This record gives sequence, C-alpha cells and structure tokens, in this order.
Amino acid sequence: MDSLFRGTLWTILILFTLPHLACNMLCPGSCLCNFKGAVKCVGDAITDIPQNLPVHTYLLQLNGTQMNIINEQSLADRDLLLRFSLTYSHLHAIHPNAFHVAPQLKSVKLSSNDLSTISARVFSPLATLEQLHLDGNQMETIAPDMFEGLVSLLDLDLSRNKLTSPASDVFDGLTKLTFLNLGRNSINKLPPTIFHSLTNLLQLMIYNNELEELEAGIFDKLVNLVELKIHHNQITILPPQVFWSLKNLKTLTLSSNRLQAIPEKTFYNMPKLTKLTIYNNPLLSLPDQLMGHMPDMTDLYLYATNLTTVPGNVFANMSGLLRLNFHLNDKLRELPSDLFCCLPKLEKLSLKSNDLLYLHPQLFSGLTTLGILLLNDNKLKSLPDNIFQGLGGDEEFNFCDAKILKSRNFFTTQTPGVASTTTMPTTLPTTTSTKTNEEFPPNTEKPSSHYKSANFYDTLVIEEGPEFVHHNLHKGWVLVPHFAAVFCMYRLNNSMDKLKAECAHPPE
Ligand SMILES: *[C@@H]1O[C@H](CO)[C@@H](O)[C@H](O)[C@H]1NC(C)=O
Ligand SMILES: *[C@@H]1O[C@H](CO)[C@@H](O)[C@H](O)[C@H]1NC(C)=O
Ligand SMILES: *[C@@H]1O[C@H](CO)[C@@H](O)[C@H](O)[C@H]1NC(C)=O
Ligand SMILES: *[C@@H]1O[C@H](CO)[C@@H](O)[C@H](O)[C@H]1NC(C)=O
Repeated sequence: MDSLFRGTLWTILILFTLPHLACNMLCPGSCLCNFKGAVKCVGDAITDIPQNLPVHTYLLQLNGTQMNIINEQSLADRDLLLRFSLTYSHLHAIHPNAFHVAPQLKSVKLSSNDLSTISARVFSPLATLEQLHLDGNQMETIAPDMFEGLVSLLDLDLSRNKLTSPASDVFDGLTKLTFLNLGRNSINKLPPTIFHSLTNLLQLMIYNNELEELEAGIFDKLVNLVELKIHHNQITILPPQVFWSLKNLKTLTLSSNRLQAIPEKTFYNMPKLTKLTIYNNPLLSLPDQLMGHMPDMTDLYLYATNLTTVPGNVFANMSGLLRLNFHLNDKLRELPSDLFCCLPKLEKLSLKSNDLLYLHPQLFSGLTTLGILLLNDNKLKSLPDNIFQGLGGDEEFNFCDAKILKSRNFFTTQTPGVASTTTMPTTLPTTTSTKTNEEFPPNTEKPSSHYKSANFYDTLVIEEGPEFVHHNLHKGWVLVPHFAAVFCMYRLNNSMDKLKAECAHPPE
C-alpha cells in the first residue's frame, strides 16, 4: 500500500517536472523559457535569433539586444512561432523576404527601434497577422503597399514615428482593423479617404500631430468607431458634420487644438458619447445649437478657453452629466441664468478660476444633487440672497448670508497671495503667481505658462482624484471630504472662527 502510494507520487512528480527540466535544458543563454513555450531573451549578447530554442516556442520576445537586422533566414524553421517581438534593439533593416519563412505569425512587434525605411510588401506574406507594432521608430513615410495582404490585421501601431503625410490608399484593404494608432508623429495632412476601408475600426488615435484641419468626410465610413483621439494638434477649423457618421462613438478628444469656433450642430448624432474634451482651445464663442442628445455623457471638460459667455442651452442635452469642469476660462465673465437648468444628476460643478463677476440668483436652483461646487478664484464681490438654497448645504458654510459678507468686504476682488507655507496640491492651480512652493511645478507658476503645460492639464483631467480646495480654517489646501455638501469657496482672508464671530455680531 505504502509502496504503491510512493510509486504514484513519483510518477506524478516526474510527469510534472520532466517538461520543465527538458525546457530548461534547451533554453539558450540570455533567455528565460517557460514550459508552455514562451521565451524571453534580453541583452547585448544576442545578435540574431538564438539557436536551440525549445521546439515548441510559440512566443519569442527579444528586448534590448544587438540584433539590428532581421535576415532572410532569421525566422526560418520556426513553424510553431506565432508571436515575435524585437524591441529596443536598434533594429534598422528587415530583409525584403524576412517574413516569407514565417507566414504563420500572428503578432509582430518591432517597437522602439531605428527603422526608417521598410521595403514595400515586406509584411505581405503574413496573411494571418493580427497585430503589427512599429511604434517608436524613425519612419517618415509609409510605402504605398506596405500593408498590402494583411487581410487579418486587427491592431496596427505606427505611433512615435516621423510620419508627415500618409498616402490616401495606405490602409486600403485593412477591413478587419479595429485599432489604429498614428499618435505622436508629425502628420500635417490626412487625405479625405484615408480611413475609408476601415469600416470595423473601434479606436483611432491621431493625437499629438500637426494637423491644421480635418477634411470633410474623413470619418464617414467609421460607423463602428468607439474612441477618437485628436487632441494636441493645430486644428483651427472643423468641417460641418465631420463627426456625424460616428453614431457609436463614446470618447472624443479635441482638447489642445486651435479652435476658435465650432460649427453649429457639430456634436449632433452622437447619442453614445460619454466623454468629450474640448479644453485648451482659444474658443471665442459657441453656437446656439451644438450638443445633440447625449444622455450617457458623464464628464465634460470645457476649460482654458477664451469664452466670455456660453449659450444658455449648451448643456441642456446632457441630462446624465455627473461632473462638469467648466473652469480656468479666464475671460468667462457671465453665465446665462438657465445654464444649469437641465442637469438633474450633476454631482460636481467646477467654476473656479473663471472671471465671473456676478451669479444669477437662480443659477444653481436646478442642481438638486450637487455635492461639490467650486467657485474660488473669480471676481465675485457678493452673492445673491439664497443662491445656495435648494442645494442641501452644509451648515458650516451657510451660517451667514451674503449681504453681511458683502458689507464686511470679505470677498476680495484681488485674490490674496497664498502664504508660502501653504501645501499646494499639484492638481489645483491658482491664479496667484506670488507664492513660492516646491510642490508646484516651477514652470506652472504663472497662469500664462501653466495654461500651456500639457502635463499639467493631462494630470488634471486624467486624475479624477479628490479635490483640494482652499480652506482658511486650516490655513491651506485641504481635501474636500467625500460627502462634503456645498462649499462657497471664496478665498476668504480670514479664519473660519473669525468669520463666524463677525457674522454672529454684525457691525452696524
Ligand atoms: C525592454 O527594454 C527597455 C529598455 O531597456 C525597458 O525599458 C523595457 O521595460 C523592456 N521591456 C520588456 C518587456 O522587457
Ligand atoms: C438636443 O438634441 C436634439 C436631438 O439631437 C436636437 O434636436 C436639439 O436641437 C438639441 N438641443 C440643443 C439645445 O442643441
Ligand atoms: C486667447 O487668450 C489668450 C490669453 O489671454 C491670448 O493670448 C490669445 O490671443 C487669445 N486668442 C484669441 C483667438 O483671442
Ligand atoms: C489678510 O488681511 C489682513 C488685513 O485685513 C492683511 O494684513 C493680510 O495681509 C491679509 N493676508 C493675506 C494673505 O493677504
């Protein structure tokens, strides 16, 4: 009985350890091999694809090697290899027939190398290829038939190259493609039909390029597109209806362009949109009809523009909006009284660092679910009576009414300088430039310079972390508690206690 048990145990042990031993014995130096057939090799010692790889290698990753060329035979006799990557290796040449010997490949990643020219049709034997990553190379042009024959391709990454003006037929035939990244190139022109084959595309990235305009009809065939990122270009003008075919679009980024105006009805026919960024554009005005019905929109970023006011109905079609970031518009002087009429779900409204002089008494009356309101850094001198009524406010902030505040001149027109001891969260800028603070990036000290800081804005948008507001009780920046109610956040040059005392005994 005992020996039978032992025998079984040995059998099990041997069965499970033998393949490991076998693989380990076959694994070349500089490589790590697992028993399933995944092999990863790193380091300068590698100058070509290692010989004596495990026979069943299906995944081969070479990183940081000295393999600068893929030769005609480099990939030969690897019939089981499906996924091949050669990255960070100063690769500068691929033999025109390099992939003839490996037509079974499903994934080829040649990211972060020195490829500047790739001969036409080099990838053409790869009829089952699904993924091709050429990002982080030196390509200035794409040969016209570079992707010809890649009928199974799903994912094409050409980002971080030096492309300037891809030809109109370069993506022809890539009808299965779902992901295309052209971001971080120097593209200044895209022909109107360049994407017309890509009827199954879900994500299109064109951000961080030098586009000055979009051609009419350029997105017309992208009926399945879910995500379109065009931020950080030089776009000054949008053709009317340019997005109208994108009925499935959920995310659209247009921030950091040069738009001064947006044509009427530009965002109509996009009923699934959940995220739209238009910030950091020198917008001067918005048309009376701009936003179509978009009930799923939860976050809107409309800041760092040159708007002086907006049409009263601009947010009226966004009934599901939860967070509205309508701040840092340093010319925004007034808001129509019905602007927030139709936002029954709004939880957070940021109007900080605008140029607001006055708020209509009814401005916030429809915002019954609002949890956080930021009004700091404006030019408000007084508030209408009862402006926060109906907002279910926090006692601490509603203990005295605005008239008393006005008579006591608590609202300073000029924002007082923040004491240098203030701990400044990097997510919240102020318009004051007098402070010195280590935590605040040095190049963002002046509003004019931090308006241009891409990092700063990306951080602000992406990190939807907790808000910090100025609170004199704590003589600095504090975290808004999670369930904080209404904050009338003026930068009060007074401690909360002093304020309370004065409100309790108003002077004659
Ligand atoms: C590849 O090498 C680069 C540079 O040496 C390194 O930054 C990167 O993390 C490596 N990637 C992988 C997947 O090992
Ligand atoms: C709201 O959307 C509908 C349908 O898309 C449109 O007809 C209407 O004009 C829009 N309203 C505004 C104020 O733009
Ligand atoms: C927008 O405002 C900035 C900063 O005040 C200014 O430099 C720029 O010229 C303005 N742009 C337009 C189009 O008015
Ligand atoms: C706050 O107000 C007092 C007097 O009203 C003034 O002396 C002081 O400099 C102000 N503090 C700041 C930070 O502006």
